[in-house]
Amino acid sequence: MNVESKQHTNENSAAWTGAPWKDPSQSPFIEIQSLHKRFGDFTAVDNISLDIYRGELFAILGGSGCGKSTLLRMLAGLEAPSAGRILIDGVDVTELPPYDRPVNMMFQSYAVFPHMTVEKNIAYGLRKSRVAPAEIESRVREMLELVQLTNLEQRKPNQLSGGQLQRVALARALIKRPKVLLLDEPLAALDKKLREQTQFELMNLQDQLGTTFVVVTHDQEEAMTLATRIAVMDEGRFIQIGTPSEVYEYPRNFFVADFFGNINIFDATVISSEPGFIAVELGASGTRIRIQHGGVIDAGAAVMIGVRPEKLLISKDKPTDDRYTVTRGVVEDLAYYGNRSIYRVRSQEGRIIQVSAQNSQRSVELAMEWDDEVYLSWDSSSSVVLQK
Ligand SMILES: Nc1ncnc2c1ncn2[C@@H]1O[C@H](COP(=O)(O)OP(=O)(O)OP(=O)(O)O)[C@@H](O)[C@H]1O
Ligand SMILES: [Mg+2]
Repeated sequence: MNVESKQHTNENSAAWTGAPWKDPSQSPFIEIQSLHKRFGDFTAVDNISLDIYRGELFAILGGSGCGKSTLLRMLAGLEAPSAGRILIDGVDVTELPPYDRPVNMMFQSYAVFPHMTVEKNIAYGLRKSRVAPAEIESRVREMLELVQLTNLEQRKPNQLSGGQLQRVALARALIKRPKVLLLDEPLAALDKKLREQTQFELMNLQDQLGTTFVVVTHDQEEAMTLATRIAVMDEGRFIQIGTPSEVYEYPRNFFVADFFGNINIFDATVISSEPGFIAVELGASGTRIRIQHGGVIDAGAAVMIGVRPEKLLISKDKPTDDRYTVTRGVVEDLAYYGNRSIYRVRSQEGRIIQVSAQNSQRSVELAMEWDDEVYLSWDSSSSVVLQK
C-alpha cells in the first residue's frame, strides 16, 4: 500500500464513528430529497428520500426493473429528476451536469475501451481533463497498485480475466478521485467464487480510500457482505433502510423478509398493541406471545409471524422452558448436510416450515425421522411481526 492511501485510511477512520445515521450531530454527505423520475406515464422512481454519510458503502437492493439504475443515474447527473433535489456535501447538484459533480459512475457493463491497453484505459479520464503527463503517469501507477494490476498495464481488455477487467473499470472510475463512486452491479459479470473474492477487495479498497460508495445490486448476499446500510427497493420506492443485520433480523414486511433468505410464516391474530410490543395469538395452536414491534396494529388484525429457520428448535419431546413459544408439526422431509440437517415440517396450520438444525453431536442416527410428530419452538424475541 502506498503512503497516500494510508493517509486516506487514517482520515477515514477518524471520520467513521460507528453509525453516523443515528448521530444527530453528524450531517449527511449525500441528501436525496423527495426524488421522482417519470418516463411518460410510468413512474420509475417514486418519492425517494435518503441520507448517505461520508465513507459509507451504501447498497441499493431490489429486483430487476425496480428503478435502481435510474436512481443512480440521477445521482450521477445522467438523468434529470422529474421532481426533488440532490445535495452532495451541502451543495445542490440537481441542475449540475455530470462533469461538475464530485461523482463518478461505474456502469452496469464496464464500458472499457477494447482497443486501449489497461494503462490507457485507466489514464483516459485524466487525459481528457488535460492533466500534465507526469502527473497522469504517477496516478496511473498508484491506481495499478491499488487494484493490483501492475505488470498487466500493456494488455488489452480481451487478454484479461473477468475479475481483472472489473478492476480496470474500477481504477478508471477512481483515478479522478471522486468523492462519491456510484457502482451499478459492479460484480454481476463475475462467477460466484470470483465475486466473493472481489467483494472483499472492493471493501478493502473503499476502506483505504475513504470514498463514499453507492452500490446497486440485486444480490442480497452481496449487499449483506459489502454494505454499511442497505435500502431495499421495490417498484420505485424504498421499502426499508437499515444495516444488514437490521433488515435480516427485523424485516418490516414479508417482501423484505423473503428477500433476505428463508423465513417461516405462522399465521396469527393481534390481541393488543402496547408501546414497543404486540401481543398475538398463533392461529392453529392458540398460543399467545408478546413480540417486539415498533408500530401499533389494531386488535383483530391478521398478521404473519416470521421466524428464520436457524432460530427454530425441533424436538420430539415438548420443551419445558416456558420462555419458548411452542407449536406442533409433522416431519415431511429431511436432508442431512453433515454439519447441519434441514427439516421440512408441516405445521398445524398446514404451512411448510423449514428448520435448520446444527448437528453438534456426532451420531449415526438422525434424531427425527419422516412422519415423526415434533414440537417446534423458538424464543419469542427471535420472531418478527410481518404485516400482510
Ligand atoms: N429511458 C427510459 N424510458 C422509459 N422507461 C425507462 C427508461 N429507463 C428506464 N425505464 C424503465 O424504468 C424502470 C426502472 O429501470 P431501471 O433501469 O432503473 O431498473 P433496475 O432496477 O436498474 O433494473 P435491473 O436490475 O434490471 O438493471 C424499468 O421498468 C425500465 O423499463
Ligand atoms: Mg439496472
